[in-house]
Amino acid sequence: MLRKTLYHGYERLLTDEVKKHGVPRHIAVIMDGNRRYADRVRIMRYYGHIYGARTTEQFLEWCWELGIRQTTIYAFSTENFSRSRPERAKIFEIITKKLDELADDPRTHERRMRVSAIGEVHLLPTYLQDAIMRVEDATQSYDGIHLNIAVAYGGQREILDAVQDMARKVREGKLRTDEIDESVISRHLYTNGVADSDVDLIIRTGGDIRTSNFLPWQANGSECAAYFCAPFWPEFRKIDFLRAIRVYQMREHEQKQSALTRTANMLAACGSAELDDVIGLFRGAVRYGLLCRSR
Ligand code: IPE
Ligand code: IPE
Ligand code: MG
Repeated sequence: MLRKTLYHGYERLLTDEVKKHGVPRHIAVIMDGNRRYADRVRIMRYYGHIYGARTTEQFLEWCWELGIRQTTIYAFSTENFSRSRPERAKIFEIITKKLDELADDPRTHERRMRVSAIGEVHLLPTYLQDAIMRVEDATQSYDGIHLNIAVAYGGQREILDAVQDMARKVREGKLRTDEIDESVISRHLYTNGVADSDVDLIIRTGGDIRTSNFLPWQANGSECAAYFCAPFWPEFRKIDFLRAIRVYQMREHEQKQSALTRTANMLAACGSAELDDVIGLFRGAVRYGLLCRSR
């Protein structure tokens, strides 16, 4: 009882703190540890995936509450095809059921949530491909918030597909090699058409500190913040989520601060710190909340 009260107090405190600063526009999450959770609490591994899917639902709710515009969740990687046939079948069943629920959920429509799958969808069983099509069709006109579900997804494969696609266009005379830049590459990735594909924060549960071939291009363009935590996905709580957001906010603050220091050093090095430059710098610092204006 006391524990619960303390938890809620702490959660409220963290929520207030997080709401004072800007939140990430795009969060990507590697939902790891379903089977280890099941092993630890001595239930069948299948239930680990079921409980994991429940956490995903809560997670989407927390993202909505905080006003996160875009979320990408890693549901099944290309490497996961090497899991046993029964396990794959169970995971695909759970994803299918959850996609159907999403398509019917009134919150999806009230929030104008556009749901898209990213990955080599053609490798999935047809019943899952159909469920993907249903939810994508039902939400394709929405632009309120975005939920991208990475299934049969591999980051290197995504880049390879993009390169092959561009090479084909060059061969056919539809693209010039000197036109290829970051934005052209982004337009050839699975995330093309997604509101803003650059990821601001990547979260991984389950204790491993690696990103397992997840969104390598999208996460590095913006040098996104990363939050690795020990809880297994089924036990990931709102306070873990809020802590992840705090990590993003602190990183943003540090980046702005170091940009400011660099500019100040540059001006000093040039020996031309004109009054206007200094005033501009000071105004920028106040705007970003790095300095307080004295009253
Ligand atoms: C993540 O949990 C879910 C999927 C990869 C589908 P895992 O199934 O990887 O569980 P652990 O990491 O082995 O505990
Ligand atoms: C990462 O979990 C992929 C997903 C969450 C879908 P894995 O358990 O498959 O990753 P590795 O094997 O630890 O890299
Ligand atoms: Mg795992």
